[in-house]
Amino acid sequence: MSSYLKYLGSVIFVCVYMLQGCKQPLNTFTPGELWPDNNGVHINAHGGGMLVHDEVYYWFGEHKIEGKAGNKAHVGVHCYSSNDLYNWQDEGIALSAVDDTTSLIDKGCIIERPKVIYNAKNKQFVMWFHHELKGMGYKAAMTGVAVSDKVTGPYTYLKSVNPNKGYWPANFTDSLKHIAVNMDTIKQWSAPWQKEVVDGAWLRRDMEKGQMARDMTLFVDDDGTAYHIHSSEENSTLHIAQLSDDYMSFTGKYVRVLEGQMNEAPAIFKRGDKYYMISSGCSGWKPNPARSAVTDHPMGPWTELGNPCRGTDEEINSTFKSQSTYVLPVQGENDTYIYMGDRWTPENAIDGRYIWLPIEFEDEKPIIRWNDEWSLRE
Ligand code: DGJ
Repeated sequence: MSSYLKYLGSVIFVCVYMLQGCKQPLNTFTPGELWPDNNGVHINAHGGGMLVHDEVYYWFGEHKIEGKAGNKAHVGVHCYSSNDLYNWQDEGIALSAVDDTTSLIDKGCIIERPKVIYNAKNKQFVMWFHHELKGMGYKAAMTGVAVSDKVTGPYTYLKSVNPNKGYWPANFTDSLKHIAVNMDTIKQWSAPWQKEVVDGAWLRRDMEKGQMARDMTLFVDDDGTAYHIHSSEENSTLHIAQLSDDYMSFTGKYVRVLEGQMNEAPAIFKRGDKYYMISSGCSGWKPNPARSAVTDHPMGPWTELGNPCRGTDEEINSTFKSQSTYVLPVQGENDTYIYMGDRWTPENAIDGRYIWLPIEFEDEKPIIRWNDEWSLRE
């Protein structure tokens, strides 16, 4: 090797070393700012959820590409890992969208809000996600499932379903089960829309086909029972549905929650003996006021607690320009929960920002306040 090449090699080595040395580990959260991963690239895990496994945090979310095209799935579900929640290592694509028109996860379909849970019985990681079929907008309203033996994947796609086909919700009144569906009234999108919807018009319509499932989350209770929570009935009503003991299908046991209230973006967590939900209204990619609710059991009944946000009118009405995706109980910290939200940027989807804020409790109600920069140590 010539001495010039040796010299060039040393210069490159020193530069890389210095650059690495300059990269200070993060020790605060800065909501709304770019959030670099271990490669210095803004984290690409939108509509995400968290799994804690062997004391490591795994963040799964929608991998977005640039421009409006990024609102569809061209890559798949991205996974990152962390020990401290500030610094994230890129673990690559956990579930890949495929170049195959015969597959339901063909590139260009919609894969949103992926969540992963660990099934101890099968020693398997199970991922569910809101799935819309290519070319059909948001009409299919399905939930998809994929599994892996390794937390970071690759996940094998199994199927997508409209859940609970043929099953009535456990809390649905018998006398409403056989009312004919008046689609003309429903189509007016005005009173008496509300009554028809609360009385289960869309639920009845979808009994044969299976129920709609759009925005979703998963929750595993202390006894290992897993629940799939999703916006159903044209987004008017949430369904909370029990998963089978392998977490790969629905049992047919489910309830309707907050009927006719148009909730999206559900996130559920447990504190003491109570279960809490943070959710949003329905306004597409635009933010709206968050909601909260509490119950003694995931299957309800749920009691509304109102908007958990505190701050200026703009902050309260826009949830700090974000929409909920998950609430993370922080491991090893007493009574510490993080609100995880998305600040969507549909014109350039990849640029979406993450709004992580602490959840406090006042009068047994979850409360979220803005903080430019904060850490778990405060
Ligand atoms: C709001 C949902 O919460 C998002 O996940 C996404 O489906 C957008 N609507 C699409 O408009």
